[in-house]
Amino acid sequence: MTKLLVTGGAGFIGSAFVRLVLGSGGASQLVNLDKLTYAGNLENLLPVDADPRYRFVHGDICDAKLVNNLVADLKPDVIVHFAAESHVDRSILSPAPVFETNLRGTFTLLEAARLNNTPRFLHVSTDEVYGSIDAPHEADEHYPLRASSPYSASKAGSDLLALSYFVTYKLPVTVTRASNNYGPYQFPEKLIPLMISNAIADQPLPIYGDGMQVRDWLYVDDHCRAILAAIEHGRPGEVYNIGGSRSLANVEVVKMMLALLGKPESLMVTVKDRPGHDRRYALSSEKLMRETGWKAEMPFEQGLRATIDWYRAKSDWMARVKSGEYQSYYEKNYAGR
Ligand code: NAD
Ligand code: TYD
Repeated sequence: MTKLLVTGGAGFIGSAFVRLVLGSGGASQLVNLDKLTYAGNLENLLPVDADPRYRFVHGDICDAKLVNNLVADLKPDVIVHFAAESHVDRSILSPAPVFETNLRGTFTLLEAARLNNTPRFLHVSTDEVYGSIDAPHEADEHYPLRASSPYSASKAGSDLLALSYFVTYKLPVTVTRASNNYGPYQFPEKLIPLMISNAIADQPLPIYGDGMQVRDWLYVDDHCRAILAAIEHGRPGEVYNIGGSRSLANVEVVKMMLALLGKPESLMVTVKDRPGHDRRYALSSEKLMRETGWKAEMPFEQGLRATIDWYRAKSDWMARVKSGEYQSYYEKNYAGR
């Protein structure tokens, strides 16, 4: 049976991964190391809280002593590294924590894995490292890295660092690069949950620029299954793209969401564009599909409906998440835009 160390398991995707793995009997022990930043939320883990296989450790992946001791004591079979500062707009407003966690934190984990001979290291990354891609092209894993934001640059740097540990130290590292995720428990700073939450409250929906930027949408559980497939059947030293095969312009996504909610399109307002805004992401997941048999299963309309239903039912979750720090972030990012 497998012992897992998960980092960032209190966030959106990490918590979906923890719930999926424990729900499917995929681990004998699972330790979740998370700093509980604004994005970390232990409520996301209530479904597994009492599971005897699960343990939460509150801590920072940049804390070398803590990380080394944890890896030495637990001797995980696999480290699955989700922890990151994950939002482009915040990385533009305040880049320092992004580089600290995404680069130094990843380095600290890689060092602990190297020193303790961890047999498998899965580094969770993003398609944003490829930068904006002109139609009709899509990025495969050999596409050049052309990061635009502090967030994507930090992820590109951490990918290269992780891969260097395979080349130099033979640490069995695999990197996955996923497209935009959506689903339950996502913090309402990202497009879909922010728009759902504002629309439910009849608040304006801030569309950056012309709203014709294209993203490839991936349901969070499809992403988590892809990570499991990459751990089980993927090769160390390799990169695997993970896409949802559903490219949509932002305004199309928001209009679909409004129609499902029965809210008027007049809620959409154009605001000043994001600096360095990538126009289009597009990637091929052919390699992962060919080598592991994985494929994205959730159709976008169905996933969006399920996500809306979840947020409607969890108005208390949303109210707690939006209290406190969220208000000052929202003010900083959107006021006067
Ligand atoms: P999130 O912001 O929802 O969660 C991040 C988690 O990491 C939080 O629980 C936070 O407390 C924790 N964390 C942050 N800094 C930490 C530190 N120094 N030490 C320990 N824990 C720390 O992020 P997410 O959307 O779930 O993304 C998870 C991973 O997936 C990230 O690596 C991100 O780059 C990648 N990714 C995200 C998307 C997306 O659409 N959200 C797409 C592709 C890849
Ligand atoms: P986001 O969810 O932040 O993901 P990323 O920038 O990592 O792709 O944004 C998705 C798209 O939605 C992106 O083109 C920016 C746009 N967007 C808006 O138009 N308004 C908003 O308030 C937000 C948060 C995003």
